[in-house]
Amino acid sequence: MEKPVYILGIESSCDDTSASVICNEKILSNVVANQEIHAKYGGVVPELASRAHQQNIVPVVQQAIAQANIKKEDLSAIAFTRGPGLMGSLLVGTSFAKSLALGLQIPLIDVNHMQAHILAHFIKEEGTTPPPFPFLCLTISGGHTQIVKVSDYFKMEILGETIDDAVGEAFDKSAKILGLPYPGGPLIDKYAKLGNPKAFAFTKPKVGDLDFSFSGLKTGILYFIQKQQRINPNFIEENLNDICASIQYTIVTILMDKIKNAVKHTGIKHVAIAGGVSANSEIRNRLQLAQKHWGWSTYIPKFEYTTDNAGMIAISGYLKYINNQYSDVSVTAKARLKVTE
Ligand code: KG4
Ligand code: ZN
Repeated sequence: MEKPVYILGIESSCDDTSASVICNEKILSNVVANQEIHAKYGGVVPELASRAHQQNIVPVVQQAIAQANIKKEDLSAIAFTRGPGLMGSLLVGTSFAKSLALGLQIPLIDVNHMQAHILAHFIKEEGTTPPPFPFLCLTISGGHTQIVKVSDYFKMEILGETIDDAVGEAFDKSAKILGLPYPGGPLIDKYAKLGNPKAFAFTKPKVGDLDFSFSGLKTGILYFIQKQQRINPNFIEENLNDICASIQYTIVTILMDKIKNAVKHTGIKHVAIAGGVSANSEIRNRLQLAQKHWGWSTYIPKFEYTTDNAGMIAISGYLKYINNQYSDVSVTAKARLKVTE
């Protein structure tokens, strides 16, 4: 029997410090330290994020190795997020990964964070089947909104993307208008469960067939709320569930319309979602309905692999490792990196 491959994945692109150990395609541990500090400021403060990464990285890695029940000497390689993300945050993970790989004298593997969100679908889990190539992936996070055609593990093509805000920003900025703390996406999801999605109607943007735009929607929501508050100062408190349900319904309908267009254009009916916003219950439900009604086969990641996590970095590292795609120690972090790079 071939020796198992153990990869340590390290993720530090934004405000979550995470480390994970994978054995071949199976996750043994996936530790995430969220940085609470940013809620106070209503968004991620880059300077504070790098500092928190610096504090968290050693204990998070130690915990991931301990939970996996291995020794660091068992590791075959270290994979880390090279970008895209906040430079100061990326540098912490990059430097740490380099030093550890050098110390253990094992290969170093750089991973593209956006590819990793998609490749999370190849983590082996009981009851899940990975999507077959080619498939379409709706990649929806706090920084990106894209429809990607995935022809192979590292062969991806962007078919459409946002021309302004990312969908995660649309959730978070709407939540801010409602006075909810950062990140507001999960809170909108929570209150929406108790509300009527048809209570209020918001105008959907008009952009290219496969492109997205969310900045107009955000402004529309802001004007609507301001107008209602002039009539009733308690409008938000009295209607929070209905407002959240209506916002979420509008955003998810925009996403579903676009992915429907992409299926029509490409004829590809294997549809996956990835990224933090794929944790949203409404998009998960609507995609399941699409499977039933339109004969798509849909792929919804396990909840813990949706928002930023190192499990997705570890699986990407594994897929590179088996092809001997190692990085040189001179590799540098990159704040801007396309899913195709
Ligand atoms: O992928 P991710 O963890 O970080 C980036 O790479 O951006 O995505 C974070 C985004 C945030 O905007 C957050 O509000 C959103 O994902 N998010 C959600 C939900 N969970 C996380 N948005 C809507 N509903 C959710 N349940
Ligand atoms: Zn992400």
